[in-house]
Amino acid sequence: MPTNSSSPHLPFGENKNAEWYGKDIISVKQFKREDLEYIFGVAHEMRGMVERVGTFDLLKGKILANLFYEPSTRTSSSFTAAMERLGGSVIPINEVKYSSVTKGETLTDTVRTLECYADVIVLRHPETGSAAIAAKAMRKPLINAGDGAGEHPTQALLDAFTIREELKHFDNLTVTMLGDLKYGRTVHSLARLLSLFDVKLNYVSPDILKMPKEVMDEVKEKGISQNEFSSLDKVLPETDVLYVTRVQKERFENADEYEKVKGAYVIDPAIMQAAKQKMIVMHPLPRVTEISMDFDDDPRAAYFRQMEYGLYVRMALLAMVLGKA
Ligand code: NCD
Repeated sequence: MPTNSSSPHLPFGENKNAEWYGKDIISVKQFKREDLEYIFGVAHEMRGMVERVGTFDLLKGKILANLFYEPSTRTSSSFTAAMERLGGSVIPINEVKYSSVTKGETLTDTVRTLECYADVIVLRHPETGSAAIAAKAMRKPLINAGDGAGEHPTQALLDAFTIREELKHFDNLTVTMLGDLKYGRTVHSLARLLSLFDVKLNYVSPDILKMPKEVMDEVKEKGISQNEFSSLDKVLPETDVLYVTRVQKERFENADEYEKVKGAYVIDPAIMQAAKQKMIVMHPLPRVTEISMDFDDDPRAAYFRQMEYGLYVRMALLAMVLGKA
């Protein structure tokens, strides 16, 4: 199909002049406040389209390679659903053990291979920094779906979109992050992203799982107030968004250390009596024991809605990097 670089008549042809065309999404540090407004606007439109027609052909003929070196349910299947709802198709490589990775192929050779067949690659890998290395070796866009304990930018975007859709604004919100703030890549990305707004951040964690200094320093540079606690009691009543995380067992070097902190916090209806009535509880999921299932029916429990918002944000991101938004 001939492409017309300035045509507003999307979905015919891709707009190669569009700001995000061909770009990688590696870190939330790439985004400015106006970029978020744009992404949320496109995601909101995607939501409307899915509700009205379910599936449409914006990315017809485009192929996504979903390359996952770590387990995933939501991220992998929501990227697949996003691509298919936009009329595109997916090469799923969820079990790298059945791919040439087990023959010793390097990450850069694997992504160079996949970009011969696909238009965009979504990568999840256990090493911090791997997404940037892979992207550098490629010509096509790469989307980071989690690089070790580093970042998870698409999760942070969907988390921020969830806050926007549920609470309508960001400014003056108190956001409390709870649990494994050391190894949890979602909170590293979310703290950085929220520092674009006038929020107040509380970090509640066991002593050995505190938010890394590097992240706190970056957030501090933006003039955001951050406070650390070991107990939730003091900050729960003022919290507008309680962002709960799983203790990341797979990243501990010492199993005994994990055992000591794995049950450090449990959110349940009794504890939540101290919280505001108009606030939300989020979690990137999967949860283990940190939120009791007894809380699931509370209207403040936003974690299942949060997953759905993820579909719309990932549809928006795929359309953007492929020049269709
Ligand atoms: C998170 C991840 O992989 O970092 N999951 C997700 O993508 N929704 C959180 C986690 O595994 O605890």
